[in-house]
Amino acid sequence: MPETPTVYVTRQIPAVGLDRLRERYEVVVWDGKLPPATEHIEAQLASLDADGLVCLLSDDIDADVLDASPNLSVVSTFSVGYDHLNLAAAAERDIAVGHTPGVLTETTADLAWALLLTCARRTVEGHAYVDADEWETWGPRLLTGADVHDATLGIVGLGKIGTAVARRGAGFGVDVLYTGPTRKPDREAELAEVGVDATFVGRDELLAESDFVSLHVPLTAETAGFLGEAEFRRMPEDAILINTSRGGVVDTDALDTALARGWIGRAGLDVTDPEPLPGDHPILRHAPERLVVTPHIGSASVGTRDRMAEMTAANVEAGIEGDDLPTSALG
Ligand code: DGY
Repeated sequence: MPETPTVYVTRQIPAVGLDRLRERYEVVVWDGKLPPATEHIEAQLASLDADGLVCLLSDDIDADVLDASPNLSVVSTFSVGYDHLNLAAAAERDIAVGHTPGVLTETTADLAWALLLTCARRTVEGHAYVDADEWETWGPRLLTGADVHDATLGIVGLGKIGTAVARRGAGFGVDVLYTGPTRKPDREAELAEVGVDATFVGRDELLAESDFVSLHVPLTAETAGFLGEAEFRRMPEDAILINTSRGGVVDTDALDTALARGWIGRAGLDVTDPEPLPGDHPILRHAPERLVVTPHIGSASVGTRDRMAEMTAANVEAGIEGDDLPTSALG
């Protein structure tokens, strides 16, 4: 009888994915709250002769990990982003790589708007104020913020998530500017159908003209440090930056300076560099008046995480069977 294939999973993912894997494979799951060390992943893959690896965006999947088990046929990441994976090394070794595109688009767009509204209307500060028992009376100038309706929303990267964020602007009557390597007439038409006017502009124009700038690009050599000191200086002094993409797209020191010197108004970050952001990181001195940070929860709704787990399992199954992955990161 052929041996049951083995899959190593680097964290407890939702049961719907793990149960599906357990129906067909020997599944070993790292039970720690923090990610396993890369050496531990390697050792586990080697000792299990693993056929499949399920990983998270917090794991560093380099060539050594890919070489750890000679049987490894598939790496399936429980994320849409795959900047933590050495894709070229996987392709060289003929190891399939799966990810979870599409399913978290709307959930992440919801969070981008949650941060945008939070920063504009200062809700975190408002809560802290009440919690600190400072609320003595209605105040004509108390916690005045920025209007969101009729504002100009700058989208960096009009892909799936960027478009979903822009589409939500219909209810607020915003004008959308977007930038990226190329103009996207299809996306413009899709947005026009719901009454959102999206205009393709260069990066500098977007930064200079937008009340809100929301980042929706993957982390690549081209996008790393996309927003640095020079870019922050181009933005209006009350501009609000929202980042739900990857922390490395923003130069954290430059953002710190921009907030300290008032080059921009506020920032709402779901992703940071470094990530996780230590509680004593200097940039946190701006919170909550000028900075709101959430712990990379863009896709964190129960339904979306369940769907991500199912997609992750489906990619493992296809990889072990030698079929095309339903959602391959290798194109
Ligand atoms: C991803 O999947 O890449 C998101 O950043 C988290 O779900």
